[in-house]
Amino acid sequence: MLKNKCIVIGVTGSIAAYKAADVVSFLKKQGADVTVIMTKNALNFINPITFETLSGNKCLVDTFDRNFEFSVEHVSLAKRADLFVVAPASADFIAKAANGIADDMLTTTFLASTCKKLIFPAMNTRMYENPITQDNLRKLEHYGIEIVEPASGYLACGDTGRGKLAPVEEIEEYIMMNAAYDHDLAGKRVLVSAGPTQEDIDPVRFITNHSTGKMGYAVAKNAARRGADVTLVSGPVSIEPPMGVRTVQVKSAQQMFDEITDRSEEQDIIIMTAAVADMRPLNAASEKIHKVTMPDSIKLGTNPDILSYLGAHRRDGQVIVGFSMETENLIENSRVKLAKKHCDMIVANSLREKGAGFGTDTNVVTLITKDKAEELPIMSKDEVAERIFTFIRDM
Ligand code: CTP
Repeated sequence: MLKNKCIVIGVTGSIAAYKAADVVSFLKKQGADVTVIMTKNALNFINPITFETLSGNKCLVDTFDRNFEFSVEHVSLAKRADLFVVAPASADFIAKAANGIADDMLTTTFLASTCKKLIFPAMNTRMYENPITQDNLRKLEHYGIEIVEPASGYLACGDTGRGKLAPVEEIEEYIMMNAAYDHDLAGKRVLVSAGPTQEDIDPVRFITNHSTGKMGYAVAKNAARRGADVTLVSGPVSIEPPMGVRTVQVKSAQQMFDEITDRSEEQDIIIMTAAVADMRPLNAASEKIHKVTMPDSIKLGTNPDILSYLGAHRRDGQVIVGFSMETENLIENSRVKLAKKHCDMIVANSLREKGAGFGTDTNVVTLITKDKAEELPIMSKDEVAERIFTFIRDM
């Protein structure tokens, strides 16, 4: 996803420097061209060979490298960079950067580059909270540089407080959000539903299904990476909400209906990936639950069909997408659903395929509209999400 992207990672003297190795490895796997620049102090914490091996590029430290090939590297690298990340950023680096000091390879390249810059501070709490550091950070923000707050926790120096480098996954997601895609959904509102619904039988038992929410969470994450304003309405799942996404937790189909329809009018794209239960136990039956045998005696009522409601109440220009699980006649059955629920596209899972459906990290889907059907090979749910938005864009 980062193919042809040039990403510069600055590493400064902090005990957290080793975490940058994970970030470099992740970026390389995403296809990025990664160059690491270390300060001299960072050399006390991690060896440049680690970064060179992981990135496949020379790790730069000294501006005055005697090797001619690299003598103007700071300018050429600054010109090539699509994103400049400094993680961990020490108080010393922040102070220099805020004041335009360029006395080593990192600060020189930083000053010479005009691309988007992200800074992840990491230092002792007292140093971080010192008004001098805070002023420097505000100054950097004033110049359009994004500062990602450090985490709170137990620090290597023995203190507890703010100053811990943001978690590696957060650094990686910030990079993806800034470099992985053209922000082709900037200014668009996207609503995604995900996960199962839970329909209570009584205070102890409920009816649900095997949905893990992975597909919907991948769709929401992809929309956020493309710059959309994303709301995710999620049934109970055990995965972390994606970064940069407004997540609303619900339990029952009725709650999901209420949360979605409250917001549906203002959305540009709505994608229903949720495995919504069609039926729910009726309370009167639930009260008798201990005296009767399950499940025949549970009286069921119908849940609202959210997708049909959205299709029937669509606003002009809105794109509405549903998911379906089919065991046979995938395209014909999905087209029937497409027409019945008045949506623009159905993403059909073939339950016969290995690697498709609930729980897996992969999926096998066909993207179906009134007059097109694009069958995709097995791929990760992240890639499926990417293909859905590309398909919508080209629709
Ligand atoms: N859906 C919904 N509300 C429901 C049931 C389903 O919004 N009460 C949505 C799902 O999120 C999915 C689409 O409708 O996007 C199709 O779901 P599916 O369960 O395949 O469809 P059903 O309407 O239940 O059709 P069938 O039972 O015929 O398969």
